[in-house]
Amino acid sequence: MENKLQNVDIYQFQQELLNWYYTNKRDLPWRKDQDPYKIWVSEIMLQQTKVDTVIPYFHRFITKFPTLHDLAEADQQDVLKAWEGLGYYSRARNLQNAVREVVATYGGEVPSTPKELGALKGVGPYTKGAILSIAYNQPEPAVDGNVMRVLARILKIEEDIAKPSAKKLFENYVHGLISHEDPSSFNQGIMELGALVCTPQTPMCMFCPVQQHCQAFAEGIEKELPIKSKAKKQKTIPYVALLIKNDKNQYVIEKRSENGLLANLWQFPMVPIDEIGFDHLENWLFNEYGVKIALGSQKGKLKHVFSHLIWQLEIYQAKTTQCQTTDERLKFVEREELESYPFPVSHQKMMKYI
Ligand code: ADE
Repeated sequence: MENKLQNVDIYQFQQELLNWYYTNKRDLPWRKDQDPYKIWVSEIMLQQTKVDTVIPYFHRFITKFPTLHDLAEADQQDVLKAWEGLGYYSRARNLQNAVREVVATYGGEVPSTPKELGALKGVGPYTKGAILSIAYNQPEPAVDGNVMRVLARILKIEEDIAKPSAKKLFENYVHGLISHEDPSSFNQGIMELGALVCTPQTPMCMFCPVQQHCQAFAEGIEKELPIKSKAKKQKTIPYVALLIKNDKNQYVIEKRSENGLLANLWQFPMVPIDEIGFDHLENWLFNEYGVKIALGSQKGKLKHVFSHLIWQLEIYQAKTTQCQTTDERLKFVEREELESYPFPVSHQKMMKYI
């Protein structure tokens, strides 16, 4: 570690990065002020999605929940609705739980110490470092995949960045490199460089403000770095997903469990068809939900890829033949009402088959 930083003129590196950032930074909505709440929301959103996708979500979210207190007091279903389509819904639930804790324990002020901040729900090392540096101007590392890519190239780090231990290594390098005069712009400058210049496939080294410090460029191996081993292939699970209508033309929807994947979101009933077998579908549904149906025709197919598994959905319509169900997960709702519930993207897409 020490060796690698010995080859860098740290002060010059900082100055060149910072000056480039000051003149080239994008005008992003969470850069308008240093409100730690807004920085927090933006960083949670940015962990899963690109800047362009996040911008409209961020605007809508902040309009709906302008302050930390508004988010703390909101109904969880409204928060999930505002997050609908972003994925990784546990991040939204954790964010709200953490914000509630900030109100209860810290009088609504986002804590500014690593210990207190890092103890909040869903605030891992990256989010903690991002809030401390960007909002509170503290020289703390905020290392995500983009930052690892940039630094792996500049310092020629050949560690596998998919390994959980790699983060710590990069955090140590950032501790050695970060500007103490403007840690906020330093970290954002590295992120911005990763987004605009030091991109994954075809980095634009000709436009790089720190090209002369870059070991990978010097050796012509910028496209070889970082080294990242492939993740395990996701398992595919086939389901029959059902658009079930009762005799009042209402649709059956189900609230998912409060734990696990897509917790507390709503969906159309799904049958794990490999386990059940197509011939037993109607029986299984009656045992599971107390709803008797007559299966109709297939309307389409959808595939949804999560980070760790894939849903293969075959969409069928069905009619209830009897539905005296007492299952508390279920609701019967009108077509127009469906839009007001938070659904995962795959089930939102199912609505076009109605
Ligand atoms: N990616 C993650 N955090 C970011 C930020 N604050 N600005 C731009 N891109 C980012």
